[in-house]
Amino acid sequence: MLMDDMRVIQDRDPAAKSMWETLLYPGLHAVLWHRVAHRYYRRRKYLLARLISQVARFFTGIEIHPGARLGRGLFIDHGMGVVIGETAAIGENVTLFQGVTLGGTGTETGKRHPTVGNNVMIAANATLLGAIRVGDNSKIGAGSVVIRDVPPEATVVGVPGRVVRLRGKRVEGVRLDHGNLPDPVRRDLATIRRRLTVLEKEGRVVEHESPAVEDEAGNVKTSQRAHRSEKGEQIDVHRLS
Ligand SMILES: CC(C)(COP(=O)(O)OP(=O)(O)OC[C@H]1O[C@@H](n2cnc3c(N)ncnc32)[C@H](O)[C@@H]1OP(=O)(O)O)[C@@H](O)C(=O)NCCC(=O)NCCS
Repeated sequence: MLMDDMRVIQDRDPAAKSMWETLLYPGLHAVLWHRVAHRYYRRRKYLLARLISQVARFFTGIEIHPGARLGRGLFIDHGMGVVIGETAAIGENVTLFQGVTLGGTGTETGKRHPTVGNNVMIAANATLLGAIRVGDNSKIGAGSVVIRDVPPEATVVGVPGRVVRLRGKRVEGVRLDHGNLPDPVRRDLATIRRRLTVLEKEGRVVEHESPAVEDEAGNVKTSQRAHRSEKGEQIDVHRLS
């Protein structure tokens, strides 16, 4: 069993130069401690189970609740800051990087943490929340926040996480340009301005100064402008765009 765990690390981490080196991996220690803690948890020795899990956390920086179910071949690379909740379930041959959270969303009881399928890779600092399911062979990108189910063989990235690849094919219609989000008000104003310029050039719109008006508070508003057609009808600029 230990040899299997060590082999998993050597197979998946090009930085591991020998089997002996894998003995130093905190992810390996965390998984070994968890097996002991989980055994006590199943026997309802909750306090002892929790104590073991907290000692493991102290030494590895990886917090796995003793109730979590971990499949064979789990590799937690680097590991610092990984949190795996009580009702989380992880399939076989899964890889987790540092900072991954498989967490709950509140104070609800029962199944409240993610279920991760086989051969899934969850990249650094990804956060998966709630009783969601991640399908087999999927990848969760670094820094993603995933709050919905992920289909098998998908790549999910972003906040909130969105499927950008499915079975190796790019999913169209997903923009990942988070620094350049669309501004609908600005876009509408630009459209109106463009249309007005065209209409003014054609001589179909004339600007009028409206008379000063007094509002309920007694403030006098001046220089209100209205756009009117040559025939004097007020133009609804929205209908022009
Ligand atoms: C998601 C990831 C696994 C790549 O998966 P993939 O299926 O090969 O997907 P691609 O690289 O083709 O990326 C698909 C799209 O997602 C974008 N993307 C990839 N990773 C992303 C991320 N973490 N956040 C936001 N967008 C991301 C890409 O720019 C690309 O966008 P485009 O289609 O508009 O060009 C990878 O980018 C990732 O996050 N790796 C991190 C691994 C890690 O944690 N390493 C730590 C080592 S210490």
